[in-house]
Amino acid sequence: MKLLSIETSCDETSFALIDIDGSSVTIHAHEILSQIDIHREYGGVFPSLAKREHAQNAVPLIKKTLEKTALGTSVPDISQTVQNQITELLARETGLAEALLAFLSKTPKPNIDAVAVTHGPGLEPTLWVGINLAKSLSAAWQVPVIPVNHMEGHISSLLIEDPASATAQPLRKIEFPALALLVSGGHTELVFIKAWGDYSIIGQTVDDAAGEAFDKVARLLGLPYPGGPEISKLATQAREDDTASPFALPRPMLNSGDLNFSFSGIKTAVRNGIENIKIAESTAELTDKQKQGISREFEDAVVETLLTKTERACDAYGASSILIAGGVAANTRLISSFKAHSGLPEAHIASRALTGDNALMIALAGWIRSQYDPSLILQDPSQIQAIGNLSLEEKRIKKD
Ligand code: KG4
Ligand code: ZN
Repeated sequence: MKLLSIETSCDETSFALIDIDGSSVTIHAHEILSQIDIHREYGGVFPSLAKREHAQNAVPLIKKTLEKTALGTSVPDISQTVQNQITELLARETGLAEALLAFLSKTPKPNIDAVAVTHGPGLEPTLWVGINLAKSLSAAWQVPVIPVNHMEGHISSLLIEDPASATAQPLRKIEFPALALLVSGGHTELVFIKAWGDYSIIGQTVDDAAGEAFDKVARLLGLPYPGGPEISKLATQAREDDTASPFALPRPMLNSGDLNFSFSGIKTAVRNGIENIKIAESTAELTDKQKQGISREFEDAVVETLLTKTERACDAYGASSILIAGGVAANTRLISSFKAHSGLPEAHIASRALTGDNALMIALAGWIRSQYDPSLILQDPSQIQAIGNLSLEEKRIKKD
């Protein structure tokens, strides 16, 4: 199956084109444009700005994606009715209808079977850009649309071992039942997976997501957004120099008797610890060593919590493999801790290039969906809506 995929759920605009069957996949193209530099000055993602950026960057990025693939030779004739439909679909995305129609009028139709698009969870204004684009491409090229759950996308990223390869590669074999630890800026979930498409959320954060905690603690330490990589750098330095934290942090919910997480208490403890140091030392600024020590203790607290709860989930549910995905899966401490921990089933960790948001994982999830539920290949995609809080346990495509 040949799929073009679209991801616009947050601050990455991304497209991929793959050819996949039950045993192997070829990545023909994969483009990711991150808006991080734009959102950094706000200390987080600013939705209306993100939406505008997606709309502006979509056509140049699709163009780049299709340039890397073999296109047909004839430019399809797009009827006035379809042109009007596209203009209406994209009416709220400034400049996008004009740019897309101009592009479509000179581009041969790619050889694809369907368009896969993220429709939730995420920021609804930005999800809509991708959805309306998918509906427009579907109308222009007469191809169906597969709506994809972004978190199923993160899980599906595990299928690829070499995201940089342009030749056919085998799909990673995943042993079921599997337990997924999904750790990103918006989610922290333990998901029991009986088989593809059969997901139960058995644990989740009751407050901040793990990535969000990294971002908030980074802010307290005066580090830029996104905070995960910054904290990780300082923590690694602290371990190399054997720098200890000026204070200890809690490992919340370890004895809660369930598989849920809480990270906001760690963040509050960091804030109080920093304030106490400032008062005791009559200073407005922490030293670099103090920042390194705190980063190390914070990273240890988060990783230990994730590891302990994952281990308990395995004990309770009996998983044959562990799948770790999402932005925080790029964390080297997390990776080494899971790899070194004995007594756990084999832990597969998403390739670093696929831990953040990307359209390759959406294409893979689109294919998986097409296999376990062909009714999700929508010849008429008009029903698809953005669902900001879409859960992995539900298959709805509309808000209600
Ligand atoms: O999956 P993702 O790219 O976007 C969401 O869907 O949320 O995750 C982004 C999150 C951010 O909070 C970022 O700080 C965190 O992943 N992150 C990390 C690392 N790299 C990114 N957290 C810890 N260590 C890292 N190396
Ligand atoms: Zn994500």
